[in-house]
Amino acid sequence: MPIDNNETKEFRPLIVAFCCNWCSYAGADLAGSSRLSYPADVKIIRVPCSCRVNPLFILRAFQKGADGVILCGCHPGDCHYTTGNYYARRRMTLLFSMLD
Ligand code: FES
Repeated sequence: MPIDNNETKEFRPLIVAFCCNWCSYAGADLAGSSRLSYPADVKIIRVPCSCRVNPLFILRAFQKGADGVILCGCHPGDCHYTTGNYYARRRMTLLFSMLD
């Protein structure tokens, strides 16, 4: 009996990662320099600060087929631009409430 390819195919989610240049992108870059690998299904988009990510970017990623989106920014109080991550957190809270 032939095996159906769809049943044997492992689900591999496509993840879009918006990474702040100053922390998470630098961390991903360091991981790459240290020869650590991550799945090719994770697409990293480098942004100058997490506040640069418009909520529409996230909706657009889902619209284009992403299974998940992650927004990585600096720790609270450590944003290179002082308060950008607080703005991003506030915007994302609003977006999450809309997605419910
Ligand atoms: Fe990293 Fe603003 S610079 S979140």
